[in-house]
Amino acid sequence: MTRPLPVDEADFPADADLSEQIRFVLHYACLAPSSHNTQPWLFQIGDRSVRFYMDRQRWLRSADPDQRELHLSVGCALRAFVRALPHFGLLGAVTFKPDEADGDCLVEVLVRHAEGGPERPSVLHLFATRHTSHGDFEDREPAHAVLEEMQAAAEYHGVALSLIRDAGDRAAAAHWLAVAEARQCADPAWREELADWVRRGVFGTSWLLSRMGALAVRYLDASRALTRKDHDHLADAPVLAVITCIRDEPVSWLCAGQAYMDICLLLAREGVCVQPMSALVEDREARARLAQMCDPGKRHPVHPFRVGYSRIEAERETPRRPLEEMLRPL
Ligand SMILES: Cc1cc2nc3c(=O)[nH]c(=O)nc-3n(C[C@H](O)[C@H](O)[C@H](O)COP(=O)(O)O)c2cc1C
Repeated sequence: MTRPLPVDEADFPADADLSEQIRFVLHYACLAPSSHNTQPWLFQIGDRSVRFYMDRQRWLRSADPDQRELHLSVGCALRAFVRALPHFGLLGAVTFKPDEADGDCLVEVLVRHAEGGPERPSVLHLFATRHTSHGDFEDREPAHAVLEEMQAAAEYHGVALSLIRDAGDRAAAAHWLAVAEARQCADPAWREELADWVRRGVFGTSWLLSRMGALAVRYLDASRALTRKDHDHLADAPVLAVITCIRDEPVSWLCAGQAYMDICLLLAREGVCVQPMSALVEDREARARLAQMCDPGKRHPVHPFRVGYSRIEAERETPRRPLEEMLRPL
């Protein structure tokens, strides 16, 4: 699947101010994955820098009370921005929490021109092919070298990646995923929140389907169908990958998001598909079980996702908000 990019790279304003160039590259940050496609970020562009804020209006209070996925999603957008910069001859240096007084300001990226000019080949084309997969996966693992590269990407960001490849362990994880999702479906607040986002069309459904889907989430008990599908998808996937952190705190979650973005890009390069399965870490008991499966070193599982080769060709394209809506004035 290839999605149309929001800007044509040929339109990069090479002769404009750095702030204009930053604004252009931010279009690629908007293509990052995010929990429920909430795109919970805001950007504040300075002369030579950009600040990334969390957007509390788009926080999933019910599914994500700790704001872990909120930070992960901003981490994805941050990394997408930093990875896109070199294509345009720019480099970014990241500082976490640049403004202690403003808790919503998570990161500042100082941008400068790269000595060596534009990076070639770059990863820009992968932004068009990266997406989340929702179909069945084939019964074959990615090459060992790819799995190792995923782990190296996690370590680069100071987090770790556990790979659950044993069928028995994946069956156990799938069981806990189903338990977690059934609990969520039984919670009216959780259903109301999901229904609200489905109604907004964040998953790429038409106006009519979005409204019908929202009504179904709100009033029909679709939990059996949902939990069965996700259970089977996880049990049948060749690999369950889990990003884990030593500390369960915001900066670690931002790092985990950056690692996930890098992993998505490298898997897009290899034609390998991913789907996060967040209920496994949203439910306290399921998360504790997953922690035991991942790693004996008491690391915290923060982002589980299945990895494999999709059997289906086309995925529904998820929409993005216009960049203008994500800009925060100085
Ligand atoms: C932190 C995080 C959690 C996510 N959790 C799930 C999930 O539990 N199930 C799922 O199908 N997709 C999940 N996703 C994927 C998003 O739904 C997806 O990124 C978004 O809809 C945009 O679609 P795209 O990735 O195809 O661009 C998650 C993504 C992130 C970044």
